[in-house]
Amino acid sequence: EIERKVDSVLNLMTLEEKIGQTVQYSVGGTLTGPGSSSSSRDKHEKIKKGEVGSLLNVVSVARVREMQELVMENSRLKIPLIFAYDVIHGLKTIFPIPLGESASWDLDLMKQSAAIAAKESAASGLNWTFAPMIDVSRDARWGRIMEGAGEDPYLNSVIGVARIQGFQGDDLADNNTIAACAKHFAGYGFAEAGREYSAVTVGEFELHNMILPPFKAAAKAGVATFMNSFNDIDGIPATGHRELQRDILKGDWNWNGFIVSDWGSIGEMRAHGFAKDKKHAAEIALNAGSDMDMESYAYEASLATLLEEDKISLEHLNDAVKRILRIKFQLGLFDDPYKYCDEEKEKNDIYTPEHLAVARDAAKKSIVLLKNDHEILPVSKSVKSIAIIGPFGDNKNQPLGNWRGKGAYNSAVSLLEGVKAKVDANTKIYYEKGIDLLIPTVAPGERQFLHPLKINTENKDGIAKAVAAAKKAEIVLLAIGEDAYQTGEGRSQVDIGFAGLQNELLEAVYKVNKNIVLVLSNGRPMDLTHANEILPAILVTWQLGSESGNGIADVLFGDYNPSAKLPVSFPRNVGQEPLYYNQKNTGRPYHPKHVTYAGYTDVEKWPLFPFGFGLSYTTFSYDNINVDKATISSKEKITLSVEVTNSGNIAGEEVVQLYIRDLVASIVRPVKELKGFEKISLNVGETKTVTFTIDKEVLQFYTINKKWEVEAGDFQLFVGGNSATKLVQKITVE
Ligand code: IFM
Repeated sequence: EIERKVDSVLNLMTLEEKIGQTVQYSVGGTLTGPGSSSSSRDKHEKIKKGEVGSLLNVVSVARVREMQELVMENSRLKIPLIFAYDVIHGLKTIFPIPLGESASWDLDLMKQSAAIAAKESAASGLNWTFAPMIDVSRDARWGRIMEGAGEDPYLNSVIGVARIQGFQGDDLADNNTIAACAKHFAGYGFAEAGREYSAVTVGEFELHNMILPPFKAAAKAGVATFMNSFNDIDGIPATGHRELQRDILKGDWNWNGFIVSDWGSIGEMRAHGFAKDKKHAAEIALNAGSDMDMESYAYEASLATLLEEDKISLEHLNDAVKRILRIKFQLGLFDDPYKYCDEEKEKNDIYTPEHLAVARDAAKKSIVLLKNDHEILPVSKSVKSIAIIGPFGDNKNQPLGNWRGKGAYNSAVSLLEGVKAKVDANTKIYYEKGIDLLIPTVAPGERQFLHPLKINTENKDGIAKAVAAAKKAEIVLLAIGEDAYQTGEGRSQVDIGFAGLQNELLEAVYKVNKNIVLVLSNGRPMDLTHANEILPAILVTWQLGSESGNGIADVLFGDYNPSAKLPVSFPRNVGQEPLYYNQKNTGRPYHPKHVTYAGYTDVEKWPLFPFGFGLSYTTFSYDNINVDKATISSKEKITLSVEVTNSGNIAGEEVVQLYIRDLVASIVRPVKELKGFEKISLNVGETKTVTFTIDKEVLQFYTINKKWEVEAGDFQLFVGGNSATKLVQKITVE
């Protein structure tokens, strides 16, 4: 039915109107790339003529209505605009940054937070988000690592699908759902040395086995749109990559949504040295399968001439337009272009107590406990005195993270507020900031997004007061880490330690009180080697969103037993980056005592904290790992079972993880690959049997034959509570 309607609209369209559908403009305040070259007056004129398909960064019912009216009241065919915005971890109710929320390994929760983000967006006039980012990341230096699900393709796949289902629901036409966007297609997370926007040099097998699986899963899950990426892959910019977009995504995977370019990425093919001018860039991009041009102004300027010159085909242009119209029909925009413009919903559906309750749940479930010597945690609520020290101790802005949607300045619950609300009335709380991490470069409340940061390295006046507070307290909560804008787009760093005066603060406080819990706020894996050597407890609290302080207090004082696990390896030293658990063995596997083996001579090869790692206030034991068959054909299945027992003193949750290793294959396979997990709750002393099915889905990979196949041979199956597990069973595929 929709296809018939799409065709009938297409048949009515002039060439200008068709090209118009492929144009996306940013209108309004938010720039997320170099400033646009068109004035808003020019843009309005084009919108009125029906020569624009989509707008980004127009948020609010009034503004969306105003723009949609320009089309409805002036254009010939009245083809509604589709409105996009970067709703990455919430619109106004802010959830943990995606990397942090991924640490929960709780797919239902992530689906729920995405559904709430969609509901708030739909109530603000929006119908499309540029999320989820499902780039497998490799390097802690890469600033955008905060926006994805970490270093594993399987985890990125299942989390990506959960988020897509949350945004899109079962029905795109529902008034509370919006179109999602799988980004960035492809390879962005493999940027050389973690340097933003940089070259990606991977071979075909790495591309298929490591980078593409989450995108394939997203396409299969019916994600409405894809965004291509800024980087080149082995010399071909992703935006101009025909094999990726036209052959694989639209061809092999048979996906029928549309691809939007990243901001200006069509025009940027000139700087890459891949297109001689903008017209050439438009030709390459359209031929490669990029359907919509975000802020390059290349399609609007050149597609008509390129058609005349036979450099692009009408068939490809029609295909791009049909894809865009299809999503607009699926959203119900043709039935009612104002269906997302409901002032009542805008008043009632945003930042509600129910949404904040889910944000708190997400916050506490995303916190990873890395260290807890002498069970210093949880802290008793009747503790006599606590010192909260550090630039993030009473910070209501930091927890909103980068890409904070319409999260209001200073709207998050700070750590200090969360602790105050939790402890007994008699508990003395001392708060001292100690230092400022940054010297402000924007006015309070102004968006930091495109502005560089300036780290404070001089003003240490507050350290003495912090030391005095620490002296008086039974326990210190040291709230340091990195500023929310040290990660995100354009925020790659060579140093992943504590910037500025934070180390000095740490040492000064440590001198007078050793009872310190590091409450780390971070958007990437940080170098915690020294902190881990001296401090008894470490909590990774990312940037946890609107309810941050409450979520942290739930964990600190034992109302919630931490259950999160790292979605990324934490290194011992930045020099280990790129560092990821699913690496290859090499011909000379690392040996700590020998020289000519793969590793470093100055730092151990392994991470400080491995992928999948996270402690609980209880302990779990794994026993009786069993397979029902040891040998199978490639079409058969094996059931692997393991008994997991809560061997500690309080109830808790454990993420039981399954990894495989294909011992000999036509392509060298990683030493371990995550292939499944289950998050279970166990009461004290309780045992549960967890089973995993080992079948073609689990064992196959993109082989030397350039096909997904299971190869005969021996496999190891590992089970445990993190990727360093040594619990193993061997199976053979005949
Ligand atoms: O969605 C983003 C993308 O991830 C990076 N460049 C800008 C886009 C739109 O804001």
